[in-house]
Amino acid sequence: MQRQGLGPRAEGIENDMRKLNKLAACGAMAATLVLSGCRQDMHDQPKFFPQRGTDFYADGRSVRPQVENTVARGQLHEDAYFYTGLVNGKEGDGLPFPVTMAVLERGQERYNVYCTPCHSRVGNGIGMIVQRGYMKAGSFHSARLETAPLGHFFHVITNGYGAMPDYASQITPEDRWAIVAYIRALQLSQKATEADVPAGQKVESLASIAKKQGLPESDAEEWKLPPTAVTGTPDGGLYVLPTPGASGTTSGAAAPSRAGSTTPSGTPGQTVPKQ
Ligand code: HEC
Repeated sequence: MQRQGLGPRAEGIENDMRKLNKLAACGAMAATLVLSGCRQDMHDQPKFFPQRGTDFYADGRSVRPQVENTVARGQLHEDAYFYTGLVNGKEGDGLPFPVTMAVLERGQERYNVYCTPCHSRVGNGIGMIVQRGYMKAGSFHSARLETAPLGHFFHVITNGYGAMPDYASQITPEDRWAIVAYIRALQLSQKATEADVPAGQKVESLASIAKKQGLPESDAEEWKLPPTAVTGTPDGGLYVLPTPGASGTTSGAAAPSRAGSTTPSGTPGQTVPKQ
């Protein structure tokens, strides 16, 4: 095809390009030949295959053990308290960062997601799963837990506690601390006096809040486990439901109450067979 509008200069450039293309093709071919030679060498060179033994090292392992105290990127965890809640192996008291309203709100939100199924929104340990048979979770309003150091709650969330599984993989350390802060607020909320609130504000009783919201009077009383709440023991024996308020149980006498009158009451101390 006759090209139009191309001057002698443009045609010259086109010729040059053709030559260059030829050169590049030759180069590529040469490189392929050279590299395939190299590949063979590299293929045959001495090397370790993963998980295969070797006589190069005295211990016969080709996979070398990690150098002691190796720290993976992003896992330095310099602030030990932030990650463990422990000070010299003991549960510390205090939050590793300042408590703001945003922290408490985040804690409330995470608490409602992860803890309420067993501990309930008010923290009395009679959440929905417990009402349906899971072991009664401790009430946060027992004298022991009201005075427990904050590190204890962090430690329990991180490592689990008795029948409670740990939540280390679901909840980040920062969120765990936010939950801890919220639990302390929840505990204080049940014992607030006029002295704790700004002048002029009134502390309202649960009974009066329940009344205002049109809830039954029993809403402000101690929650009772329904008779359907049965739980087994590891040895297959009988399980005695703890009597609320009895010594040795964690169902604090001051536990807030929200059970509606529709909730059937369990008989405290009843013996139920393992299901
Ligand atoms: C699947 C149910 C379940 C969930 C979810 C759960 N817990 Fe528990 N928790 C329990 C049970 C059961 C116990 C009592 C364990 C025991 O005494 O063996 C308990 C006990 C506790 C205790 C008391 C420890 C003590 O010293 O007596 C704390 C604190 C606690 N849980 C915090 C939490 C927090 C915070 C969350 C949410 C991140 C949470 N739990 C989620 C079941 C649960």
